[in-house]
Amino acid sequence: MVYGATGHTGRFVVDELLRRGLTPVLAGRSAERLAALAPRYADLERCEVGVDDSHLGRAVAGVGVVVNCAGPFLDTALPLARAAVEAGVHYLDVTAEQPVVSRLYRELDRAARNAGVAVVPAMAFYGGLADLLLTAALDGGSQADEVEIAIGLDRWWPTPGTRVTGARNTSVRQVIQGGELVPLPNPAPTRTWCYPGPLREQPVVELPFSEVITIHRHLDIGELRSYLNTTALEDIRDTTTSTPLPADEAGRSAQQFVVDVLVRRGSDVRRIICSGRDIYAVSAPVVVEGAARLLDGRHRGPGAMAPGQAFDASDVLDALERDTDGLAIERDRHSSDGPVIRDGRPRQDSNLGQAN
Ligand SMILES: NC(=O)c1ccc[n+]([C@@H]2O[C@H](COP(=O)([O-])OP(=O)(O)OC[C@H]3O[C@@H](n4cnc5c(N)ncnc54)[C@H](OP(=O)(O)O)[C@@H]3O)[C@@H](O)[C@H]2O)c1
Repeated sequence: MVYGATGHTGRFVVDELLRRGLTPVLAGRSAERLAALAPRYADLERCEVGVDDSHLGRAVAGVGVVVNCAGPFLDTALPLARAAVEAGVHYLDVTAEQPVVSRLYRELDRAARNAGVAVVPAMAFYGGLADLLLTAALDGGSQADEVEIAIGLDRWWPTPGTRVTGARNTSVRQVIQGGELVPLPNPAPTRTWCYPGPLREQPVVELPFSEVITIHRHLDIGELRSYLNTTALEDIRDTTTSTPLPADEAGRSAQQFVVDVLVRRGSDVRRIICSGRDIYAVSAPVVVEGAARLLDGRHRGPGAMAPGQAFDASDVLDALERDTDGLAIERDRHSSDGPVIRDGRPRQDSNLGQAN
């Protein structure tokens, strides 16, 4: 079941499920908007249900996995995930909101374990992708002294859902310091970041998303900082910025992204980079890869888990790279007699620094 099938992201998810030969039930709160979906979905079952409706439990019972694409997730995630768990059904979502992930872990882990199902929030571009990249870079390890995640977008054309979610998500963001979740300093730190590829050197601001909560769930990280380039943020702040417009036959926008993850453990430094096209569209193969694995048993659990905890991260990334047009993952590893990250950025005389 794709909940929020009427949304921009939900439609990419429905298409990806169909591409893989799966049969989604199209669900959402509005029968009218579900009926207005593209004619190519004519044969698919529709399910009108609000997250506060008394028949929510009956609506989710019997499906294999609920994939929640309806945000703000502050409104939808807990009731839907709870209904799924009570019905003995796996749950995934694409939330970037930190408090949502914390709440699902806190409130549903035990129930999910008892029900024998997995609850995996943030299986998407923001959140899950960085979690999977870091998990893969650790290569079976679970500890690092320092991790930096820099997301770079050439443009951010936000959907209405992104704008509403940003406006609702006012709680103080969290980072990891000394192994603990702590509030992001105010004002958020700024600096420059040398992105690989065409973005090159850019001003960035520390802006953590749901990856901080997922990573803290299963990995022992001393310091974790997440950055976004400020030009991407300016697109969000500008209320006149366009929504994403289709620029290829799959409906993807022309937006280019990079997720650059640097990991230091002692003098061992690793870097893993994912680049691709359209952060909304790419969330579909990410979450559908999770759904497919929950359906065919290639997952750990049960319980409320991070993406890299529930799934074999390297195997998921290999599958994404193989099956997603334009998605590339580069792994670089560098050991030296001293830290290769200096002042929070790769030393220019190291392989890592030169990789910029
Ligand atoms: N983590 C990531 O990387 C990532 C990636 C993509 C999207 N997202 C998040 O996913 C959410 C959806 O994004 P989008 O781009 O698809 O936005 P969108 O095109 O504006 O669609 C929003 C969807 O959510 C549904 N919805 C909103 N509030 C609801 C509620 N209270 N009850 C039931 N349904 C509700 C809408 O249903 P109606 O049609 O009935 O209004 C619609 O289906 C946003 O929160 C966005 O931030 C995150």
